[in-house]
Amino acid sequence: MTDKNAMAVNATTRRKMLTSGLKLSALVGAAYSGMSRANSQAPDPLITEIQDWNRYMGDGVDANPYGSPSQFEAEVVRRDVPWLTADAKSSVNFTPLHALDGIITPNGLCFERHHGGVAQIAPDEHRLMINGLVDTPLVFTMEDIARFPRENHMYFLECAANSGMEWRGAQLNGCQFTHGMVHNVLYTGVPLKYLLQEAGIKTRGKWLLPEGADPAHMTRSIPMEKALDDCLVAFKMNGEALRPEQGYPLRLVVPGWEGNMWVKWLRRLEVGDEPWHHREETSKYTDLLADGRARRFSWEMDVKSVITNPSPQAPILHGQGRTVITGLAWSGHGTVRRVDVSVDGGRNWTTARLDAPSFSKSVHRFYHEFDWDGRELFLQSRAIDDRGNVQPTKNALRHARGENSIYHNNGIQTWQVRPDGSAENVEIS
Ligand code: MTE
Repeated sequence: MTDKNAMAVNATTRRKMLTSGLKLSALVGAAYSGMSRANSQAPDPLITEIQDWNRYMGDGVDANPYGSPSQFEAEVVRRDVPWLTADAKSSVNFTPLHALDGIITPNGLCFERHHGGVAQIAPDEHRLMINGLVDTPLVFTMEDIARFPRENHMYFLECAANSGMEWRGAQLNGCQFTHGMVHNVLYTGVPLKYLLQEAGIKTRGKWLLPEGADPAHMTRSIPMEKALDDCLVAFKMNGEALRPEQGYPLRLVVPGWEGNMWVKWLRRLEVGDEPWHHREETSKYTDLLADGRARRFSWEMDVKSVITNPSPQAPILHGQGRTVITGLAWSGHGTVRRVDVSVDGGRNWTTARLDAPSFSKSVHRFYHEFDWDGRELFLQSRAIDDRGNVQPTKNALRHARGENSIYHNNGIQTWQVRPDGSAENVEIS
């Protein structure tokens, strides 16, 4: 690897060469002497020859009014696992975590999970009702909601079933599939408490039932403390309107809690005095234990991390030498305080570099730069949150909860990296 100064010198030299229009081929050997490509004997035509894109006019401003990623990024898309669900309308696809960097999930790449397909609702026909144990039942239009004070917050949404297929052993080959039921978005919305206060909650009103306007009529019971704490009624994601698949025009944001509770296409909030025990919080989204009993209401998403590169869909292509290991860490309890990385299956750990910004209940990006000697690696990451919670091994999870579970798998992931740079999902026993 070239050091920082050499990089700076070369970048300046390249700029000068391009602007002066000098004969590049004569200069290239000297200018690039510090960089690996320039060390090769033959001049690189990609730098010595003027290319088409450098010669001919490009598209005009009218070619793509909304904008889309480069044609060379066509592989970076949400993907599903065909055998996982019977029908695309009650299904899930996954965020391509291995192809992203930083902490923001672009809107078109946020994984989708819906039980009744994507509802298409015109905003002027959408209504939100608050009823039940309130002083004044209310119905809001989207315009009404936009008149309340709004806030912006960055939060992760993780489906409780994320990594669920991995409970009994390594199965899906790629972090998109093992960990891609998570996205991290800047939401703009109105704190839910403002709307509830407008309706006036009766003293007996201790629970809230949000309901979706989709054919699934998604409902979940949420304790009033949480509803009045940090929940949002959101209408924008990453600055623009929610995408239809994320609940356009209105969704509930329940920071740090399992994604199933983040009701999309939000149409109703009922205030009650006890939980409703509907389908999504009884037969689904509860954790079956080894003795046949189930954990009731496991709302918070525990501390978790995954190395996104290298990983099965993102092998090491450059051979030995300086290699950047990177990944994501998050906790439904707050911020991530530390991430450790192991290259030998958990025998030795090194503290990774956490890259700012760090927001509570948002994903964090970590990096660990190291010199790979071409040896086989067993890559793992282990996150610790600001409450001191430590991400467990998969074996520790199974010991505590048995093998029947699906939901809330925050166990440590292992990627085996072979000497040729390819990677595979494995488990260390
Ligand atoms: N809300 C409604 N109305 N209908 C749904 O099917 N799916 C839930 C939740 N909210 C769902 C819903 C589930 S299981 C999850 S994990 C999240 O939405 C997924 O949110 P996303 O599609 O924005 O990723």
